[in-house]
Parts: sequence; structure tokens; C-alpha cells
Amino acid sequence: MRSSIDRARKRLQDMNVLVVGNGGREHALAWKIGKSPRVERVFVAPGNAGTAEDAENIDIKADDFPRLIRFAKENQVELTIIGPEAPLTAGIVDAFEQTKLRVFGPSEAAAQLEGSKVFCKDLLHHANIPTADYKVFTDGDRAAKYIIDRYPEEKQNVPVVVKADGLAAGKGVIVCATRAEALDAINRVARDREFGAAGSRLIVEERLDGQEASVLAITDGRTIVTLPPAQDHKPANDGDTGPNTGGMGAYSPAPLVDDEMLRWIEEHVLVPTVHAMKRSRNPFKGILYAGLMMTNQGPKVLEYNVRFGDPECQPLLMRLKTDIVDVIDATLSGELDKFAGLEWDPRPAVCVVMASEGYPGSYERGRPIRGLADAAKLPDVKVFHAGTATLDGEVVTNGGRVLGVTAMGESISDAKRRAYEAVKCIRWDGAWCRKDISDKAVQ
Ligand code: AMP
Ligand code: GLY
Repeated sequence: MRSSIDRARKRLQDMNVLVVGNGGREHALAWKIGKSPRVERVFVAPGNAGTAEDAENIDIKADDFPRLIRFAKENQVELTIIGPEAPLTAGIVDAFEQTKLRVFGPSEAAAQLEGSKVFCKDLLHHANIPTADYKVFTDGDRAAKYIIDRYPEEKQNVPVVVKADGLAAGKGVIVCATRAEALDAINRVARDREFGAAGSRLIVEERLDGQEASVLAITDGRTIVTLPPAQDHKPANDGDTGPNTGGMGAYSPAPLVDDEMLRWIEEHVLVPTVHAMKRSRNPFKGILYAGLMMTNQGPKVLEYNVRFGDPECQPLLMRLKTDIVDVIDATLSGELDKFAGLEWDPRPAVCVVMASEGYPGSYERGRPIRGLADAAKLPDVKVFHAGTATLDGEVVTNGGRVLGVTAMGESISDAKRRAYEAVKCIRWDGAWCRKDISDKAVQ
């Protein structure tokens, strides 16, 4: 008996872990997993130039489930962690579990929380969780009529948000101020099908005002462990102006959400969501990420994501002291309730995204990046790669968001100063970043 337990322990000591994805979030995950004394090898599929340094890249795309499964079997991968939403909503976790592989993330059914905004809004509504009022349409004309009936004056202020139901790489959300904008947004989603099949249903919802915060939790479907709050910076330019992006920077903790507020969010948002998922027989296992608007009437849910945020993951994991493999292991065994809790470095972390010229519009790839080694020498700094590749032995740009330069400091302003000091070391033709990441925390 004892020897079989010892053998099981031993096996779980020299684990091979596979991370699926190729962005900054996956680099942060691979880096953190690689620090676990229980881990032997970390593979990233397909990865980027940064994950090639901190782990081993595997040339398999995140949507090629059969090859990923074969790789995991052939390489004694004991644990697979899925970074992005697309494979999760396409059922990668179900595919791995069917072949008895251990995998961290929600099932296809549970991932609908992000994959379908209608599913998410209906769940929030039925569970009485605060969120913006909304209406669902399958027909653009009906949605347009609803706007015109509700706002009969052409010049009226129309504070609504139009959303395509499905995944649209963060682009299927159009925030409107006028009637013309709302009608145009409905046309783009329903008639022009700018977001493809994601627009076969659409939501028109009340526009909320306030600051946004990201509250993430890890859950095994019953127990919830909430992570410290973070804040993303979605608009491209300083002062939250310009087009929306995947996120130009993040920091944690976000003082906007104090301990009392975090407990409130846990009780009134996260717990009822996890219970509602369990009741509907789609228990949610993995990372539950609430995108919240802190309104005058309290926090309201803007959306759920079913994975770590990118770039929120980078400052969060830089501060996490607990072995992430232990937490994930406990989650997969349904034993998160026995877990002692997470330990965090009290120092805040700030992540500044450096982007390609033209992003979030079109951009060129293949521009050589200089100064990475100088940035790496700075203390308490980690440069996470997002859109990078290696070409003829050189690290080159290979995406819109290229790097997530992350630093810890004694205060948020100190972490910010250190992050920008590292940014200054790094250059390529057309590189740019926002200059005000984390300023909202210190105002
Ligand atoms: P989502 O993908 O639903 O998080 O939406 C992307 C972004 O659109 C959010 O981060 C907000 O900035 C904005 N947004 C979404 N819903 C609303 C809303 N009801 N009111 C105001 N802004 C919103
Ligand atoms: N940072 C926002 C997201 O990951 O969707």
C-alpha cells in the first residue's frame, strides 16, 4: 500500500507539463510552472521566442487537438494547461479528458460562459447577479426597431452597448453614444456580419459608467479561491482613448477593489455563478475571470472569461509565491477546499505591453528586437513575450502585442518606474506602448 502511494508521489514529483497557447499569458504560465520543484519539463504548444527560452516549444497549433493529445501521451505529460479561450470553447478539455489526460480548464459546456454572451447574460440574470440590463435579438431589424422605439428622437443620447453573441477576438463589442452609432453597430453585427457567425445573435445592453476591474478566481466547481484584483488597460492610447485592443497593460493589486469590495464580489458574483453552473450540470473548473464595471450602484459584471486574462496573468503570476502546480493539482482532484490558500508577494506588479506599429490595425512582422538582454538584467523585472518568434537566431516581432514588460516594486509607482526603465532598454522599428499604465491606481 505504502509503496504504491510512494510511487504515485514520486510520479507526481517529476511531472511533464504542457501549456497550450502562444501569448504573454502562456509565457507567464510556462515561466511560473517551470519554477515548481515538482516539474521536470515544461512544453508550450506552439509558444513563442520567450517560451523557447524558459520552456520547450512544440510545433503544434492550439486548435489541433488530436496532435496535442498524441504529444501528451507520447511525452508522459501529466498535466496540460489551456491558455486561450478558443480551444476551451471548442472542447479541448473534453477531448483530453476522454483520453484520461489531466487537463486544467473548463469543459466546452462550461466555457460557454465566455463563448456565448447570451448564455452568460441569461445565467447572470437568473442567478440575480448584478449586470447591465439587456435584450437578445436574432434579427437586426427587430434590434433596430427596439432602439428607434425606445429612443424616438434622432439626436437623443443613446447609452447602449451592442455585442455579438459569440467569440470575436475581443472585437465584437461596440460601445455607443448616439442613435446613429447604435443603428450602425447593429448593422455591422447582424447585416454585414462583420464578426461572422458570432453575430447570429446579438445583445443590446445598457451602457454602464465607471472604472473597470478584473477579478479572477480559481475553482474546482465547488470551492473558490479568489486572486487579488487587477486592472487592464483596453484602449490603445494614453488616458483610455483610441481603439480597443487586447489589453495594453495591467497591474495588481488594484486599490479600486479593496478587501471589503473583493469579499462582496466573491459573495455576490463569483459564488452564485459557480453555484449556478453546478446546478445547471455544467460545473465550472478552471479560472473564472469576472470583468467588472465599478458603478455608482456597486460592481456589475460586464462579461466572464473562462481563463487567465492577458495581460492580467503576467503581474498576477509574478506576485504569486505559492507553487502554481500544487494549486492546479488540488483543483483537478476536487480538493481545493483542503488547500491552505495562496501566498502573494505584497509588492505590486505592473505590466506594460509593447506593441507593433499599426496595432490594433494591421502591422508588419519580422522586425528584429534589440535590448532584451539588458532589460533581463534589471532586478524584479521579467519580460514576457507575446507576439515574438525566432528568425535566424534573432528574436523578431510576430504579432500586434509583442512583449509584456513586467516589474515589481515597493509601491505601484515604483513598479511602474521599474517597468518603464526596462521598456527603455528594448527597441525595434515602430515599437510603442502606453505611457500611463497603472496611473489610475495612484490618482
Ligand atoms: P466585454 O468583451 O464584454 O468585456 O467588452 C469589452 C469592453 O467593452 C469592456 O471591457 C468594456 O470596456 C466595454 N463594455 C462592455 N459592456 C459594457 C457596458 N455594458 N457598458 C459599458 N462598457 C461596456
Ligand atoms: N485582458 C482581457 C482579456 O484577457 O480578455
